[in-house]
Amino acid sequence: MASMKIHGAEAIMVAVIFLAAVLPSHASTTVDEPANYYKPTAPAPPPPAPYSSPPPQVQPVIVVHGVIYCKYCRLRGYNSGMEASPLPNATVSLVCYGDEESKYRVLNQTSTAADENGYFIVMVYDLEMFDRHSCRVYLRSSPTPLCAKPFLPSNPKLGLTLVRDRKATPPRGARGVFHPRPEALMYTPGTGAKCPPPY
Ligand SMILES: *[C@@H]1O[C@H](CO)[C@@H](O)[C@H](O)[C@H]1NC(C)=O
Ligand SMILES: *[C@@H]1O[C@H](CO)[C@@H](O)[C@H](O)[C@H]1NC(C)=O
Repeated sequence: MASMKIHGAEAIMVAVIFLAAVLPSHASTTVDEPANYYKPTAPAPPPPAPYSSPPPQVQPVIVVHGVIYCKYCRLRGYNSGMEASPLPNATVSLVCYGDEESKYRVLNQTSTAADENGYFIVMVYDLEMFDRHSCRVYLRSSPTPLCAKPFLPSNPKLGLTLVRDRKATPPRGARGVFHPRPEALMYTPGTGAKCPPPY
């Protein structure tokens, strides 16, 4: 029995020595722990975003673009070959006539106001409605009564047909780029009317 007790005491002593060696002292934790080395210098990782934003979706679109000019007037940007000048702020309508499949809906979109080069654009997101064969481009508005008589098309109820623009670089998401044929729509001064003053 006595020897058993001695053995028990020895076992406890061994355990205490073992634990002392294994458990780090306070000194060793502050000096040797990698966490304490790196915490001050390493930047905190960014907190996880509450909602991770999905990659930006590019909405499919059809682009119709062209130019609007004022025929027979020498304004800024006059083109002698065309005998016409860009007509800034004029607009066109793109009208697409739906078929049975689209329940005969009619899409009627106004272009951007023409810029200083007469350039306009229409972005069509209602792709179901776009079929180049059933869409037409019409003169819609002139910025000045001095150049507001429809010239091309001369009958404002007859729109221009569309053709695919193969030279254009399609913007992101574009399923197609089209322009009217001919590419330039035109207003002109009414009979006997003067051109707008050059600006
Ligand atoms: C076009 O419209 C804008 C805004 O209404 C105007 O500031 C500008 O002078 C117009 N441009 C021309 C050439 O009429
Ligand atoms: C398209 O809308 C414009 C502006 O509301 C209108 O003047 C024009 O008549 C419409 N065209 C067609 C074909 O419905």
